[in-house]
Amino acid sequence: MIEELKSMELSKEEFIKLRDYIHKTIGVLVDNDKEYLIKQRLEPVIKSFNLSGFSELCDVLKFPPIGLIEQITIAITTNETSFFRDKGPFDVFNKVLLSDLTKLINERKSKLFSRKGAKVKIWCVASSTGQEPYSLAMLINEYCENNINGVSLEDFSILATDINTTVLAQAIKGKYNAIEINRGLDAYRIEKYFRQENNDWIVNEKLQSIVEFRRLNLTNSFLSLGGFDLILCRNVLIYFDDKTKIKILEEIYQLLSAEGALILGSSENVYGLNEKFKSQHIEKTLLYKKH
Ligand SMILES: C[S@@+](CC[C@H](N)C(=O)[O-])C[C@H]1O[C@@H](n2cnc3c(N)ncnc32)[C@H](O)[C@@H]1O
Repeated sequence: MIEELKSMELSKEEFIKLRDYIHKTIGVLVDNDKEYLIKQRLEPVIKSFNLSGFSELCDVLKFPPIGLIEQITIAITTNETSFFRDKGPFDVFNKVLLSDLTKLINERKSKLFSRKGAKVKIWCVASSTGQEPYSLAMLINEYCENNINGVSLEDFSILATDINTTVLAQAIKGKYNAIEINRGLDAYRIEKYFRQENNDWIVNEKLQSIVEFRRLNLTNSFLSLGGFDLILCRNVLIYFDDKTKIKILEEIYQLLSAEGALILGSSENVYGLNEKFKSQHIEKTLLYKKH
């Protein structure tokens, strides 16, 4: 019993090896004073792969067994999120961006024969368990209801990506427990968009139909994703070093359409790329657009 409770030893050298490996593969920067974080999060991974400790974990990383890197990624990433998190960006989306996007859709429809090419494309860059894209989908649905604005749900598409396969699996199911469903949603929206299944709530097919989830590691190039009219890259850049942040923002810049807008998390900014992005304050939210 006493043996089981004893935590595994992590030497300074092993910590540095793991910190550097995580930085190289996931991009996430683990501060030098966060040894406890590596211990706390990787011990269960070590146990589940039947390894003897941190020393063996460092050894096997040279030729990692199938699934090990995925489990390290799941353990290391922080997936905090909620419906309508921070409210401000969603108010701006509702009050300003939706009508801008409608103009864009109508302009495209007038120029194109196919309705498909007129679609507005939105990207939630690190979507965790899916509350962020589903919150946008709810606002789009409410805006399109009764079709008074001349656009419908099919005129919008949301791509939602994350590196962590566990959160993506939950997002794809659109399945939330009692705590998650009550963070950011009122009774009206819970009733309108979810069905209860035992102790969980499942998002309806209408919202699911405009959201596509995909695994993506932001440290790799993502230019092949194509263009977007709105990009939400919220509460993920904070985990990276400056070089990685700039690499990600430069690629985002290339993917943003000429009229497009970028929204970052409230403690994030464009890290010196001011010659590329101009900022516009709407209420308390900062929108970044191309110069
Ligand atoms: C704190 S959550 C933010 C969720 C949501 N955007 C929000 O603001 O509520 C950060 C997400 O970034 C993801 N992430 C971390 N490193 C990543 C990487 N290299 N590539 C893609 N996603 C990553 C994590 O898995 C996590 O789900």
